[in-house]
Amino acid sequence: MQTIVLVYSGGLDTSVCIPLMREEYGFDHVITVTVDVGQPAEDIRQAEVRARGLNTEHYTLDAKAEFVEKYCWPAVRANGDYQGYPISTSIARPLIALKAVEKAKELGANAFGHGCTGKGNDQFRIEYIMRTLMPDAEIIAPMREGRLLPNGAREPWTRTEEIDYAEAHGVEIPQTRDKIWSIDENLWGRSIEGGHLEEPGYAPPEEIFQWTRGLKDCPDTPKTLKIGFENGVPVSLDDKILSPLELVLQMNKIAGENGVGRVDVMEDRMLGLKVRENYECPAAVVLLAAHKALEALVSTQGELKFKSMVDREWGELAYKGLWFDPLKEDLEAFINSIQTRVTGSVNMRLAKGSAVVIGRSSPYALYNEDLASFDSKTFDQAESIGMVKIHGLQSRMYWQLKQKMK
Ligand code: ARG
Repeated sequence: MQTIVLVYSGGLDTSVCIPLMREEYGFDHVITVTVDVGQPAEDIRQAEVRARGLNTEHYTLDAKAEFVEKYCWPAVRANGDYQGYPISTSIARPLIALKAVEKAKELGANAFGHGCTGKGNDQFRIEYIMRTLMPDAEIIAPMREGRLLPNGAREPWTRTEEIDYAEAHGVEIPQTRDKIWSIDENLWGRSIEGGHLEEPGYAPPEEIFQWTRGLKDCPDTPKTLKIGFENGVPVSLDDKILSPLELVLQMNKIAGENGVGRVDVMEDRMLGLKVRENYECPAAVVLLAAHKALEALVSTQGELKFKSMVDREWGELAYKGLWFDPLKEDLEAFINSIQTRVTGSVNMRLAKGSAVVIGRSSPYALYNEDLASFDSKTFDQAESIGMVKIHGLQSRMYWQLKQKMK
């Protein structure tokens, strides 16, 4: 028996993969795995129904808590960002692939299938994990390989051909014919692309947003909120201790109600393609802003400068899906060391699309009231005179030299 584990979302691409794997790739036993990282419950259910309809051995694996603790929290510690938005799809892919690998090992399968096309980033992220953990496994991606023509050649699938193939093979396809947006969703963010949104100048219509209210629907009264942190990760909202999963769920709701978390960017994909992306990530936007505010209170100037470089590198590695990279481990050694002091709380004000820090406190604050307020003997202002005279010595010499050379 030829067994394959298919990373299954229940969408059209991955559903079409099921009959394809049987007919063209010779797998008579298809195991479908849907990993729940916080996509809509309806999507999970639909995946189950479709998998059943297509007679696969189907598993829904709930990885929500694990996703927050092992993927979103490290992203908070590293202020996980890529080109101006909190990374979300990229940090969920390693976990999805990891769960598929676990299932394959448990069930003795040695082949994987996924629905990625050849244009995006997910093929890199998913296959990297599979190859790392099961180097000998076969990996097939029918959507990337293209449609098999009678003469044996292949060409890219068009959406119409895919739908025709699906219909001919009993793949149920409700409302897909007029589906406009391509959406990827997990607890940390919702990404919307496709249709007219591909045009960089096209203003995103209100209908693409699900988690965040538009300006005119936001409450008039601002919402203030205290976020407690320990060791670089949030632990409480308004002094109420919450599990990581519960905290993210509540934060998404509160911030989304106040219209916080919409990001519209041009993104450079791994293959060099520039794409227009819209994100909704209410919890991530608020928690990252709060985290940065606390870091700024407890870290030295040098630490902050260096950490912004470390964070940037970390974000790029995470974006590329290189989850087990040694450099990532090295960067995390630094990040985790500095996070031991990122404990305390941050007050935020959320109102009509904005999230503003309005206060912070920590037992590790490097701020000292005596020193900063300048009115005490501990800071003798006369000591500054000499320091100011020396300031920019080489820089001033350079300027004078330049005048002479004219
Ligand atoms: N470009 C983003 C990334 O690579 C998100 C892509 C999500 N996919 C989607 N169909 N919206 O992380």
